[in-house]
Amino acid sequence: MKKDTDWFEELYNNADGDSCAIPWAKLSPDPLLLEFLSNHKNLQGRALVIGCGLGDDAKEIADAGFDTIAIDISKSAIKWAKQRFEEDDITFCVEDIFHLPKEYLHSFDFVFESLTIQSLPITFRPEMIEAITSTVASNGKLLVVAHGKNEGETFEGPPYPLLINELGLFQKYGLKQLEFSIYEESSNLSSLKFKALYQN
Ligand SMILES: C[S@@+](CC[C@H](N)C(=O)[O-])C[C@H]1O[C@@H](n2cnc3c(N)ncnc32)[C@H](O)[C@@H]1O
Repeated sequence: MKKDTDWFEELYNNADGDSCAIPWAKLSPDPLLLEFLSNHKNLQGRALVIGCGLGDDAKEIADAGFDTIAIDISKSAIKWAKQRFEEDDITFCVEDIFHLPKEYLHSFDFVFESLTIQSLPITFRPEMIEAITSTVASNGKLLVVAHGKNEGETFEGPPYPLLINELGLFQKYGLKQLEFSIYEESSNLSSLKFKALYQN
């Protein structure tokens, strides 16, 4: 039976090495991640990148000195990221956020999540947010970047932009919110962008 996440593998596989066929692939790190890394130079240790795609954010995090693991459900995305960054010291792994190995639990000093939560239908949201939360070590930090929408707005999806109050689930599952920013970013996919920083 087809799973809700199978289309990711089909997309990466059919792209056949052409990043123009991957709508979210910019081949550069997220500017909000760059800003975070330049403001948190004291943060070090193990990092996890959720839904890493072609690996640019993982590369930046590894260059900032973190011992970095980057996961994606798509084996073609992971193969591609490995090829792009074969000279870098990054562990790229095929993993499903919903079935993470036990050793991932509470074991990362920095977790970066960009645009994965919104890429799955809303019914997956609590389980996904709980799974991401479970990877953050005691005192570790989690940076979340997500497209969002205002109450009452509708977008067909995917992606399925988040409402602000859905991010409250990170606090429900035990994290403390340290920073929160909203950016207006109107497109046919979403109207807002959220950046949130949490600590365990
Ligand atoms: C919209 S893309 C975002 C990619 C990248 N994080 C970025 O910001 O450009 C979502 C990524 O999450 C991956 N993904 C989707 N479901 C996943 C799951 N259950 N576990 C791990 N990765 C998943 C997809 O394969 C895809 O690469």
